[in-house]
Amino acid sequence: MAIRLALLSNAGGSGKTTLAVHLAYLLGVAGYSVALVDLDPQGSCSLMGGLARPHPDKTIAAVLQDNFQGDWPTVPLWPDHIENVVAVQGEMALVKSINELVFHERGAYLLSDRLSDYPLSQDILIFDCPATLGPLPLIALSACTHLLVPVQVEPKSADGSGKLLEWFYHNCRRLRLKPEPQILGFVPNQYDKTIAIHRNILASLEPQLSKLSIPCFKPIRFSAEFKNASALGLPIHLYRPLHPACKDFTPIVTKITQLIKKPKTIHE
Ligand SMILES: Nc1ncnc2c1ncn2[C@@H]1O[C@H](COP(=O)(O)OP(=O)(O)O)[C@@H](O)[C@H]1O
Ligand SMILES: [Mg+2]
Repeated sequence: MAIRLALLSNAGGSGKTTLAVHLAYLLGVAGYSVALVDLDPQGSCSLMGGLARPHPDKTIAAVLQDNFQGDWPTVPLWPDHIENVVAVQGEMALVKSINELVFHERGAYLLSDRLSDYPLSQDILIFDCPATLGPLPLIALSACTHLLVPVQVEPKSADGSGKLLEWFYHNCRRLRLKPEPQILGFVPNQYDKTIAIHRNILASLEPQLSKLSIPCFKPIRFSAEFKNASALGLPIHLYRPLHPACKDFTPIVTKITQLIKKPKTIHE
């Protein structure tokens, strides 16, 4: 089965979409085929991936409808630069899906059901989730094989991370997820080593996670260039290829590529 990676955190602005979009690009560059699935009604993946706003019938909301027949609405991402990365866009129609999911007999398993009835062919699927831990993150949880948790190195984030882990363990039990998705790690984001509180929080986060046997990746540094790149719908690697932050993603990409057993398809 393809790697299905959910980006989850219970804080807005922690970097879920940034990480999702950059990993989609970098795994594509590494030669894997990637589908980035936007489960956020805000549709931020479209913005950060330079895509036009989709028609509601051409979004993940349509996939979640009962009359879906397997025609995944994929659109190429950065087609001028790379061939093997697509997006399934999100948009406001997902708000309606949230209500429908609550009443559907298979609500929490709907994405998982769609993927088993109509599998996507890509090597890796990335689910970008909204910040509120409601029905949409839940369908990502039950459909994913692995999780990544971006956290801002700010005082409130430690508390938020604890709540996210409670939610994770509780719902893995409640939904009887077997095997449980594996937490690949926490990713400290927007890290500025010149700020003492950032250093302190990072220093305390690592041992706390290690007690729970959860890896903590090296932080992704703060750079205004992330915003500038996303305003143009590009990953920082295309916008500023020599920027030092480009390398910050390497350990995460390496870990994911180690999980993908299938041989590379292109760029070999
Ligand atoms: N490492 C970083 N340095 C500076 N700005 C960042 C960084 N990561 C993300 N951002 C910016 O922070 C904002 C929130 O990030 P985003 O990925 O949308 O978070 P989320 O999806 O968790 O809400 C965006 O404007 C994004 O460009
Ligand atoms: Mg987001």
